[in-house]
Amino acid sequence: MATSDLMEKIVSLCKRRGFVFPGSEIYGGLANSWDYGPLGVELKNNIKRLWWERFVGRRDDIFGIDPAVIMSSKVWEASGHVKEFADPLVECKQCHGRFRPDLIEGVCPNCGVNDFTFAKNFNLLFRTHIGPVDDSSAEVYLRGELAQAMFVDFPNVLQTTRAKLPFGIAAQGKAFRNEITPGNFIFRTREFDLMEFEYFIREDEWEKWFEYWRKEMWSWITDDLGVQESRLHELEVPDGERAHYSKRTIDFEYDYPFGKKELYGLAYRTDFDLKNHFKQPPYKDQETGEAFYPHVVEPTWGVDRSVLVVLLDAYTEDGDRVVLKLKPRLAPYKAAVFPLLANKPDLVAKAREIYQLLTTNYSLHGPIAWDDRGNIGKRYYAQDEIGTPYCITVDFDTLEKGDVTVRDRDTAKQERVKIEELKEFLQEKIYGSE
Ligand code: GAP
Repeated sequence: MATSDLMEKIVSLCKRRGFVFPGSEIYGGLANSWDYGPLGVELKNNIKRLWWERFVGRRDDIFGIDPAVIMSSKVWEASGHVKEFADPLVECKQCHGRFRPDLIEGVCPNCGVNDFTFAKNFNLLFRTHIGPVDDSSAEVYLRGELAQAMFVDFPNVLQTTRAKLPFGIAAQGKAFRNEITPGNFIFRTREFDLMEFEYFIREDEWEKWFEYWRKEMWSWITDDLGVQESRLHELEVPDGERAHYSKRTIDFEYDYPFGKKELYGLAYRTDFDLKNHFKQPPYKDQETGEAFYPHVVEPTWGVDRSVLVVLLDAYTEDGDRVVLKLKPRLAPYKAAVFPLLANKPDLVAKAREIYQLLTTNYSLHGPIAWDDRGNIGKRYYAQDEIGTPYCITVDFDTLEKGDVTVRDRDTAKQERVKIEELKEFLQEKIYGSE
């Protein structure tokens, strides 16, 4: 399949089946704004939940917070973002379109002319005003990253958890950047979801922890998201191209249909941020009494890029059949229940009972699809296309023998499973021994 086709197919599938819709569509849309639909929000939430479980819930050294989107402007002045968080911008002298020079290929994408102004820096922070006064004293910024809240809240977390180095502070949530050239569907937008943590360490241990988180990030992408290793790369970001706070950065890159580009990042932020925010060292060694500024290794994950990569990587075609081979635990629907025939009340009632059984105590951690339209083959195709790992059909044998047909999305193999064993069967298949 041509790679540009793949992107078109994903965007179209997302719209048609309810993963991602164009934002504000009935008003003609708002460029580069996207809404997650019923299936997209399940996929996105599954990624976020899995991440939280892995990096916060199952560890005793990382603590979660949920900080405010709007913070004091002083935070962004101290962090260097007001001054440094900028991208180069050029303007086309012909049509006055504005672009990031590194994201265009020579000529103006609007009018095709190659006549640009010199690059100047454009700050990416989104500005707004608090309260009824619309002057600079009320000016604030929507957060451009979550990290600053983790630095600002450092003493509060330290005090309430009594944590000792090394330890981390984690958060998930929206970040906002006034990107000059957004695009490629949900790859680069002006509001996006982040998951990141600041891992506080002693300076002499930064290399050890950098390597540790490097391996963890790789394992997250391949084991948890199920992304193929052959499409994944690491890039050592050279001097002069790193963010203003970073002494070393590795980007995890993916082979998107539009090229090899960043998926996630890992940065060694030194003690740059804590030093900017705190006049006195905010950490004291409890044994020696020594006060100092911890250093920081920061793994950061874009949620929307995770969704995009998972969809691209899972998309397969087999003749006219499209299968999203998502990891079962990421799939929006965990299973689908079908009565073989919609006009047989006994079958429908039994299928409803099974639907209730699978949704009541919610041990499968996700919704279950119900479909009684058309023939079974079409229903299978419809579920394959959205990645539902198991389809359960209730037929006449079910009424007599108390078992159902369970069909596996990837192998299309079918097996009979007793109704009373169904929930455990699916749980084991989807979540294994965890
Ligand atoms: N606190 C560090 C930080 O924010 P970043 O590399 O600027 O680092 C983190 O952004 C991640 O957020 C990126 O690796 C990428 O996954 C995602 N990201 C960045 N800008 C984005 C945008 N405009 N749209 C969607 N995702 C974006």
